[in-house]
Amino acid sequence: MQSAFPRMSADEAAEFIHHDDMVAFSGFTPAGSPKALPVAIAQRAVNFHQRQQAFQIRLLTGASIGADADDALAAADAVVWRAPYQTAPALREKINRGQVNFVDLHLSEVAQMVNYGFFGPIDVAVIEASRVADDGRIWLTSGIGNAPTWLHNARRVIIELNRYHSPRVAELADIVMPGLPPRRNSVPIFHTLDRIGTQYVQIDPAKIVAIVETELPDAGNAQERANPVSQQIADNVVAFLLNEMALGRLPPEFLPLQSGVGNINNAVMARLGENSDIPPFMMYSEVLQESVVHLLESGKVAGASASSLTVSRASLEKIYDNMDFFASRIVLRPQEISNNPEIIRRLGVIALNVGLEFDIYGHANSTHVAGVTLMNGIGGSADFERNAYLSIFMAPSTAKAGKISTIVPMCSHVDHSEHSVKVIVTEQGVADLRGLSPLQRAQAIIDHCAHPLYRDCLHHYLSNAPGGHLRHDLEHAFDLHRNLIACGSMLGES
Ligand code: COA
Repeated sequence: MQSAFPRMSADEAAEFIHHDDMVAFSGFTPAGSPKALPVAIAQRAVNFHQRQQAFQIRLLTGASIGADADDALAAADAVVWRAPYQTAPALREKINRGQVNFVDLHLSEVAQMVNYGFFGPIDVAVIEASRVADDGRIWLTSGIGNAPTWLHNARRVIIELNRYHSPRVAELADIVMPGLPPRRNSVPIFHTLDRIGTQYVQIDPAKIVAIVETELPDAGNAQERANPVSQQIADNVVAFLLNEMALGRLPPEFLPLQSGVGNINNAVMARLGENSDIPPFMMYSEVLQESVVHLLESGKVAGASASSLTVSRASLEKIYDNMDFFASRIVLRPQEISNNPEIIRRLGVIALNVGLEFDIYGHANSTHVAGVTLMNGIGGSADFERNAYLSIFMAPSTAKAGKISTIVPMCSHVDHSEHSVKVIVTEQGVADLRGLSPLQRAQAIIDHCAHPLYRDCLHHYLSNAPGGHLRHDLEHAFDLHRNLIACGSMLGES
């Protein structure tokens, strides 16, 4: 039956988007993000700019979108303001040159900030869907992100109906939106796989101004081969968790895990999967990446809740071909639910995230190299870290072939504070910071996590720094960073 909504090309649909509009994209990572409209919007910007006319949008997303999409928009100078997270090289460069205003936000908070009116109205939502009904019900795809909130708030909605996705992808979705304070209810999720919402989002169909049909895959991440340092960090994390179990500080049935993205997290997941002393466990995370698919198949991961399936094309197709198996084991939620502090604390999630830099007292920098250059953004790391049963941060002890120590006297930028970082793990070992005073934390971090090349200088800093409860020497707190800037190495050698 012919649908009630106008069907058109991406270029035609892009004409609904005007200079200075607030545009909101569905999805979370490339999963569930629109694929045709970003390119069409970029081309529209180029056309305007060739006529010497202004065309720049403000862009809200769930997290990152496809790097190609973000980079196409960046190359076309189509975006003037962007939130809440990105991973695209060309966009990152523009942000770091001050040409795009980037707002780095906790991912769980974005939807409510829009609902509170903090960023003004949304002009157009561009939403990838697997199905749309004439009555305004919309079924999303492999990433949910903030799409339900965008759909409710936007004045106009453009749907990318992506035939690539299995219509059964909707079986993974559990859509619920918390109400507004001061009468917001509790979110009644008591087990990782609890479903409390619907498989679709219902909106006023009159808002849907265009349907653009596509058949485009998510540019998902294939799993990188783990390097020896990641493997060693993973071994250290697993040994630490086994010891926690032996000490009775983790329940025998284990606790749900949150795992960030990247090589180290994949290595940790693989090692947990291999270890027969770790019982089958749940994931309560924001992203399910490649390693989790294999662990679901083997039964080591008994069930997984997240906001997106950021997996390779082969793995996504495997899920779609085996929905009878996967639909009862995966729940995809809006990111204000996947990253919800109330649920993370209730379920007792163990948070496993990676940082760029840690200081001797346990502050962590996840976002800004040398305090100034944005890498990606804080993402959901602090949603989990702050509320976790146990918050574990991981990193190699050095970067750039030993020229940078990831353990420094004072972080050049702080995303996570000493008050909530509980455990730091490098390939050198584990610093368990629970119950330690600042000076005890400093000894533990230097002795167990810093690279031997840097230990003496960190100890020297600590023993010579004046102070009371904490010791810092503000004259020398950034000597390692100064060396890096002056000679290209924190060791002070060129
Ligand atoms: N100073 C300067 N550069 C550093 C550094 C430091 N202290 N530590 C790492 N780097 C560099 C690496 O050399 C590497 O550079 P390259 O790309 O030129 O090789 C780059 O930073 C990335 O480091 P890598 O070790 O490959 O880590 P990663 O890919 O695991 O990413 C973060 C690490 C911190 C950037 C990433 O985890 C992140 O963006 N975190 C914030 C968001 C988040 O936690 N999301 C998940 C939450 S659910």
